[in-house]
Amino acid sequence: MSLDVSRIRKDFPIFTRTIRDGKKLIYLDSGATSQKPQVVIDAEVEFYSKHNAAAHRGAHQLAEEATELFEASRETVAAFLGAQSSEIIFTKSATESLNLLAYSFSNAEPGSKFAIGPEHSIVVTEMEHHANLIPWQQLAKRSGAELKWFGVTSNGRLDESNIDSLITSQTKIVAITQQSNVLGTINNLDNIINRAHSVGAIVIVDACQSVPHLAVNVQKLGADFLAFSGHKALGPTGVGVLWGRSELLKDLPPFLFGGSMIENVTMTDATWAEAPRRFEAGVPNMAQVIGLAAGIKYLQNVGMEEIHQHETVLTEYLLKELGSIDGVSIVGPLDTALRGSTVSFTVEGIHPHDLGQYLDNAGIAVRTGHHCAWPLTRSLGVPATTRASLYLYNDISDLDALILGVIEAKKYFG
Ligand SMILES: Cc1ncc(COP(=O)(O)O)c(C=O)c1O
Repeated sequence: MSLDVSRIRKDFPIFTRTIRDGKKLIYLDSGATSQKPQVVIDAEVEFYSKHNAAAHRGAHQLAEEATELFEASRETVAAFLGAQSSEIIFTKSATESLNLLAYSFSNAEPGSKFAIGPEHSIVVTEMEHHANLIPWQQLAKRSGAELKWFGVTSNGRLDESNIDSLITSQTKIVAITQQSNVLGTINNLDNIINRAHSVGAIVIVDACQSVPHLAVNVQKLGADFLAFSGHKALGPTGVGVLWGRSELLKDLPPFLFGGSMIENVTMTDATWAEAPRRFEAGVPNMAQVIGLAAGIKYLQNVGMEEIHQHETVLTEYLLKELGSIDGVSIVGPLDTALRGSTVSFTVEGIHPHDLGQYLDNAGIAVRTGHHCAWPLTRSLGVPATTRASLYLYNDISDLDALILGVIEAKKYFG
């Protein structure tokens, strides 16, 4: 295994604690939120202890320091994604990033490239997290646009067979996940992006489950907007990122209005600042943004290729061992080609909530339920699953604990 996991775990203070009466913490819920290395915690504490002031406001030293740290963090995120720093917008979460976009489309002037109406369609997929589905459902309702979607095959891949009838000259937006938070499927987006661009549609990528685990370069990806949450990528909660292509951000109308996003204001009107400030109304989440930059630097030091490799080896093992237990069904691709380290499964005769509780008693943290992807789990006929989601601090011993836990749960529940 390429990563020195015992070394890495020392950087994450939470792994020094025990769980449920002295048991080792086996954290297999990084798809929900990742654990935080000490450098991230320190970055937030350091900001509040030494530099706290409102960035981009005030003419004093602290405000200057806060601004410098905040903007340096923007540069760190931009370099991580292969973007320009003016293309990085800080939000409070990926959910907010995606809602920001949906409302910005609503605010577009008639005739502008973002204006959307009953003559248009919005294309999503059946494997979206609710955060990349409901904002588009609501935009479709507000605008009268038609909502269309790619289906999912029984082996958990996107069904692209009807791409030409789904993405047509009427399509305004294609909003799609790069990696499913339920199935672990990684979508090769090339075909969809090419097709969308050939008809003039704008492509929005939900990268919540990909950016923390894979090297994602927005130039290579070729989409128009991309969103992810800091807290799944070692960063603090309360910070999300929206990347947008500069030529689009230049004309995109704002969503939230208030301080710092303006160029000029009178009693009856206002004009807008350039991006990214136009989309960052109000005092930003400075400590969280700075904490995210520390998390990203940590990931870069370990290496995104190495992290992906490490997770692939673990996933291969988990799919094989878990899948060979009688009564266990993996929900999602069974091989590691174009697949991430999120493994959802069901166990015949045991409700996922019961299994989750049983595993929790053994110190094993997994997620159970519909994972905020209700249409997907419903279409697969498995309203709830148990989900193990891995990260750089997991090793084979964590997986062995899970496998043993499932075997024992089967005995316990008869
Ligand atoms: C694929 C995907 N998209 C969007 C989100 C929403 O992220 P957040 O709740 O941090 O806004 C999640 C969170 O689980 C996710 O897994």
